[in-house]
Amino acid sequence: MGTILWTLWNFDILAGNAVFSCSTARVNFRLFRLSLLAAAMPLVAAADIKLPDAAAPTEAAAKPTLPPAAITPVTATPPAAAPVVPVPGPSAAVPASSEPPLEIRRAIAVDEKAPVVSPPVSKIVFTRCEVPAPVIAITFDDGPNPDHTPRLLDMLKARNIKATFFMVGRCVVTWPHIVKRIADEGHEVANHSWSHPLLTSLGNTSLDSQLQKTHDAIIKACGKAPLHYRPPYGAIGMSQRKRIHEKLGYSTILWDVDPLDWKTPRNSKKVEDRILANTKSGSIILTHDIHGTTVDAMPATLDALIARGYQFATVSQLIELERETASTVVATAPAPVPLTPEPTIPVVPMSTLPPETVAPAQPAKAVSVDE
Ligand code: NI
Repeated sequence: MGTILWTLWNFDILAGNAVFSCSTARVNFRLFRLSLLAAAMPLVAAADIKLPDAAAPTEAAAKPTLPPAAITPVTATPPAAAPVVPVPGPSAAVPASSEPPLEIRRAIAVDEKAPVVSPPVSKIVFTRCEVPAPVIAITFDDGPNPDHTPRLLDMLKARNIKATFFMVGRCVVTWPHIVKRIADEGHEVANHSWSHPLLTSLGNTSLDSQLQKTHDAIIKACGKAPLHYRPPYGAIGMSQRKRIHEKLGYSTILWDVDPLDWKTPRNSKKVEDRILANTKSGSIILTHDIHGTTVDAMPATLDALIARGYQFATVSQLIELERETASTVVATAPAPVPLTPEPTIPVVPMSTLPPETVAPAQPAKAVSVDE
């Protein structure tokens, strides 16, 4: 049955480019796939960013000066850092009168007739995805770059691999024709801020501007709106994540595989080795298409990942697979066994308790509501 699931996913990837362009066909196709999944599931046990403005900060130059406490420790705390809202059970239906969050509204708009009994997971931060098959997403940050991105696109095209590009707004407006090529060839376009600043050091107005300007520039260059962003250096505050999600509908995309391709001295073989050593099903791989050594490492890296049986998806496709899997698991889960009533504990009147068993009143502690 694992083979059935995997075959269905492969079919979806292969058919995806054709089917995803037609919304009606897509809904019908996904209905069919979801029904098969539901039947099968129970049996499946920035070193030198080439910015137009030379004064822009570079990732290598900025990294040593970053205040460590302000940086989200991505590699040290993988998925646990993401604030995951528990999936409600089948009985926890969303009241018809209440407006679901933007993220859920978008999914409902796509899957209006899909047999999903629970709302999609309200998760807005991803370091990797939980998927039932060897599917991964490779991402390229800080571009586009006129020297390296076009040849990378050639490599991806030769292998029919779709990737996700987290682009810097100032590069987008300087090389819009590369952005258009990225989108035209089926890759996902995503937001990586306007000038690659440390977002945690910005106020709300600057934060909004960094992302909104880039959002608009990407749409102008290729006609497609980004669905996600990645904070430069992986640094973003909890309240900032929520703000960005509410304003732009973005999910925050981090990573679980970091080949440190920005570090000098750069070495293509090390990039390849680190990626191959750490990639697993559901991984989101961080790389930078502004480095020649990174792009040089790609043919061998991509071929090795393919040889190991990995299928490439865009970040959005990977997230969708996680959500569909979670929904299907919930939809096909057996009815919960009724709990046996807990034994009744006799109530002891307060006046009968000896004085030493009454805990002294504790002063209220300040509760941190953010970060
Ligand atoms: Ni970056």
